[in-house]
Amino acid sequence: MVALRVLTGNDWSLWREVRLTALRESPQAFKARLADWHSGGEERWRARLEMPDAYNVVALLDGRVVAVAGGVPGDSGTHELRSVWVSPRARGRGVGDRLIAAVETWALRSGATTLKLAVIPGNEPAVALYRRNGFVVAEEGGGLTPDGATRERVMVKALR
Ligand SMILES: CC(C)(COP(=O)(O)OP(=O)(O)OC[C@H]1O[C@@H](n2cnc3c(N)ncnc32)[C@H](O)[C@@H]1OP(=O)(O)O)[C@@H](O)C(=O)NCCC(=O)NCCS
Repeated sequence: MVALRVLTGNDWSLWREVRLTALRESPQAFKARLADWHSGGEERWRARLEMPDAYNVVALLDGRVVAVAGGVPGDSGTHELRSVWVSPRARGRGVGDRLIAAVETWALRSGATTLKLAVIPGNEPAVALYRRNGFVVAEEGGGLTPDGATRERVMVKALR
């Protein structure tokens, strides 16, 4: 049984655990680097969770955290989907779909008209997940990837 749990600032150690696990397991999928985060203290993790109007959610399978996603408010009604990760043992079971649906619901409730995300080129499992959930590749390029060789691919979904 997969259950979702929305995080608050007091969940900072849970958030730290799942984010560090994601960065360790899938370093190629994220711009953030494990080395930049693994020594951070409570304040730093809390600050991300307590960003005004942000949304952070984890999925639990049999009581253990197996996945995470976040939503961050942006300009002009465009909110961002961030930090999507599903543990290898929970992949291919619709957990990513559940997390994306939760972030979309949050974005709609907070008045967004568009949800956008950035994915590192070549991350085909993620692109397949986002396409199936209605995201399309945008014309705009994203930020530089950590190796500085290419740009992230931006994908967008109109919410209304
Ligand atoms: C991308 C990711 C979130 C997908 O999560 P998920 O809940 O397994 O999503 P899906 O079940 O829709 O799988 C997406 C694609 O992954 C592939 N996939 C399916 N089962 C898989 C498994 N057991 N193991 C690996 N990949 C699998 C398939 O290509 C699938 O696409 P399809 O259903 O169109 O064939 C997950 O693979 C992950 O966390 N990857 C590492 C981190 C990452 O890339 N995050 C995204 C950053 S933008």
